[in-house]
Amino acid sequence: MKMPLQIIRQDITKIECDAVVNAAKPSLLGGGGVDGAIHKAAGPELLEECRTLGGCKTGQAKITKGYNLPAKYVIHTVGPVWKGGEKGERDYLYSCYRESLKLAKEYDCESVAFPLISSGVYGYPKDKAFKVAIDAISEFLLGNDMTVYVAVFDKSALSVSQKLFNEIKVYIDDNYVDENLILRRCNIYEAPGIAMSKTPFEVYDACECKAISIEDALESIDESFSQMLLRKIDEKGLTDAQCYKKANIDRKLFSKIRNDINYKPKKTTAIAFAIALELSLDETKDMLMKAGYALSHSNKFDIIIEYFIVNGNYNIFEINEVLFQFDQSLLSV
Ligand code: AR6
Repeated sequence: MKMPLQIIRQDITKIECDAVVNAAKPSLLGGGGVDGAIHKAAGPELLEECRTLGGCKTGQAKITKGYNLPAKYVIHTVGPVWKGGEKGERDYLYSCYRESLKLAKEYDCESVAFPLISSGVYGYPKDKAFKVAIDAISEFLLGNDMTVYVAVFDKSALSVSQKLFNEIKVYIDDNYVDENLILRRCNIYEAPGIAMSKTPFEVYDACECKAISIEDALESIDESFSQMLLRKIDEKGLTDAQCYKKANIDRKLFSKIRNDINYKPKKTTAIAFAIALELSLDETKDMLMKAGYALSHSNKFDIIIEYFIVNGNYNIFEINEVLFQFDQSLLSV
């Protein structure tokens, strides 16, 4: 199942999709970087077609066939040269994404792959270039169905302001250490065997368990994941589409979940919905439990998610950026 916006680490000329976007120069007559790689992979006919286009202005986009590329089309866009950030660079770069996506839509593309435009020869700082890419693409995806890949060649350069990255690193370190300490302490306490034999009886007494039949037990079955999801969507006053788009989840996957009361989503999908619904940490844990999952302090993925929820940051793209940077699975993949 695909999610609409995917960050991938891949050579753009190898991506199987309807259109790849080229970080071109105004003449459209080829160059280095992505441009060189695309022309090389597509073959000389691409340059022939480019010659007929009469160039392209910064922030605009033009389309050609893909020739020998796996992609059907190449969308050529000209990013701004970075001059310190005060010369309208962000607007031009945003426009590159918007105009390229507009063209892709006109040509009925269902999937498009972007490199980080302007972030090579043109010198746009990669973290800033990444942020603009994500902002522009997510805005487009709010109103359109398409799968958009962002090919990030060089992960070390990726995204996330240094401040956020450091904060999360500290959060992970703190929580990791705590958990390890607790585990170590438990081992010590459990060693003599006393705690182990006592606990089960205490639990039994405390909840005054009565023997009931399996049928009765099943009668009082709790709300399922799918039911809780739909209830929360209503409670938050969202439409289905607002919710799955915010969760970066494909419409088809959403309707599967809607139509199957017992649907068991992947953990990343369940969390993506919790984020879209802006659930509190307790609500998130409750919803995850219904799908058979938990959030623990034993792995970085869970701690990163917890960090964002506790800090009230429900921006799924920013969360995915951080997950990517820490080599974790992305939400809703
Ligand atoms: N796949 C994905 N990303 C790539 C690839 C690849 N094959 N190759 C490089 N990158 P650039 P610009 C990354 O310089 O800054 C050309 O000469 C790279 O690491 O290709 O918009 C044109 O003709 C960087 O992050 O594009 C123009 O004159 C990003 O793609 C000028 O360069 C963009 O780097 C355009 O410069």
